[in-house]
Amino acid sequence: MESISDPPFHEAYKILFDKTRNGNNFEEHKELLAVAEECDLPVIDLSRLEESDEVVREECKSQIARASQEWGFFQVVNHGISTEIFSSLRCEQEKVFKQPFEKKTKEDKFLNFSAGSYRWGTPSATCIKQLSWSEAFHIPLTDILGSTGSNSLSWTIEQFATTVSSLAQTLADILAEKMGHKSTFFKENCLPNTCYLRLNRYPPCPIGFGIHGLMPHTDSDFLTILYQDQVGGLQLVKDSKWIAVKPNPDALIINIGDLFQAWSNGVYKSVEHRVMTNPKLERFSMAYFFCPSNDTVIESCREPSFYRKFSFREYRQQVRDDVQKLGSKIGLPRFLTHA
Ligand code: OGA
Ligand code: NI
Repeated sequence: MESISDPPFHEAYKILFDKTRNGNNFEEHKELLAVAEECDLPVIDLSRLEESDEVVREECKSQIARASQEWGFFQVVNHGISTEIFSSLRCEQEKVFKQPFEKKTKEDKFLNFSAGSYRWGTPSATCIKQLSWSEAFHIPLTDILGSTGSNSLSWTIEQFATTVSSLAQTLADILAEKMGHKSTFFKENCLPNTCYLRLNRYPPCPIGFGIHGLMPHTDSDFLTILYQDQVGGLQLVKDSKWIAVKPNPDALIINIGDLFQAWSNGVYKSVEHRVMTNPKLERFSMAYFFCPSNDTVIESCREPSFYRKFSFREYRQQVRDDVQKLGSKIGLPRFLTHA
């Protein structure tokens, strides 16, 4: 049952659920009920980047580039980030979501985050398929890194952000290098305080199977580093089919975002992914979005380019406009040169 900390999903979506139960939307819901096959994402051992043998290092870099082309998704182990950082952030994450719903949603500046960092459900949903059964804090890291660590959550986020940003930087540099670009682009434009952290909570969804915890989407960043618990539910599209990612306690999940797809002229793939809910278990995850400053211009590194150049500000604005007008993001297709 919902507690005082849970968002009022049942009440907010009663009409949508009734509509589905009455059979009107059965066809569209059936599609969601198909069971996704489980698979092992490529696992890349990052300790090989530290080897003295250049052949070993290059082989590791090639694996990263290959997985980004073929899957748009991979896992990394021996990534050098201590498990304590993740467990303390996870602990803080549980505490912040346990606050009463009223407090999470009503206070403008809850815990010094910008207004609107707390999100839940899908306000614009008109059918079951468009519903996200989850709540999240979407935190611009500039809010945290600029402030004077006023509470244990901010402090933990700060530790986390500085550690994870160097992993993101390393991966981005490798991907650029594998396209023939040894550049300072990422060091100059993607700083710890231009990135975002999203804390996700997926409450159990007792209504039944086939409800989205998070709707299918691509990420609007260069790359994402995801830490998830052992509940499972993350799925991605591979060869036009949804496949489920088996949780691995030692691994972080990396996925390519829209900006890298544009920058690499489509070589690295920003792949659609989603989260399915669990009827009994709650699930937590945290996603670090490696983003440039708003003024950064994203331009393909190869000619002829599929996408026209755009600033990150322009990209975000377009996504926001589309979500508001159409109910969902269009993303990169908006920027095709030959649409
Ligand atoms: C996201 C995301 C996946 C997950 O926050 O963009 O895709 O497993 N999260 O929570
Ligand atoms: Ni995502």
